[in-house]
Amino acid sequence: MSVRRMRDGDVETVRDLLRRLWSDSGDYDFAGETVFVWDRGDGVVGGFVSVSIRPWAEGCASEPVAYIEGWFVDEDLRRRGAGAELLEAAENWARERGFTEIGSDAEFDNDISVIAHLQLGYRRTTRLQFFKKDLTREGP
Ligand SMILES: CC(C)(COP(=O)(O)OP(=O)(O)OC[C@H]1O[C@@H](n2cnc3c(N)ncnc32)[C@H](O)[C@@H]1OP(=O)(O)O)[C@@H](O)C(=O)NCCC(=O)NCCS
Repeated sequence: MSVRRMRDGDVETVRDLLRRLWSDSGDYDFAGETVFVWDRGDGVVGGFVSVSIRPWAEGCASEPVAYIEGWFVDEDLRRRGAGAELLEAAENWARERGFTEIGSDAEFDNDISVIAHLQLGYRRTTRLQFFKKDLTREGP
């Protein structure tokens, strides 16, 4: 089992994993992102991380900055270091391109992701609350 770059034939599997993280991600287009996968050893993907270059990111000082867009490991593979190796691959990818920081995020109540980030060397930066307003309705 090891980390490798995503191949064309992996895309549907990675999309399936992504839909388990974000149910509305549909046929997600990974254009502009570099994706590393966790190969179970038989070519079958059991996890992935995707990294992009963002013009800026909350809490990061450098611009542009590398950013973790998605990170998922299949339930049966968790707590065996796959997640850590995937993140390391993304970090190395960024480091090799001269980036000195990498940003990431997790939903406020995703305790496991928060713990894993902290354990793997990430530190908390800004906390944000998102809002939206329906502009098709009158009034506040
Ligand atoms: C977050 C996730 C990718 C971690 O993958 P993983 O393969 O289990 O991670 P690792 O085994 O490399 O764990 C790295 C460290 O994180 C911490 N950690 C991971 N899962 C943990 C858990 N359930 N409870 C406590 N600590 C945990 C541990 O410190 C662990 O190191 P250790 O096992 O040596 O103690 C995985 O839990 C996952 O896919 N979760 C659902 C999707 C998700 O929330 N993704 C992140 C979106 S921001």
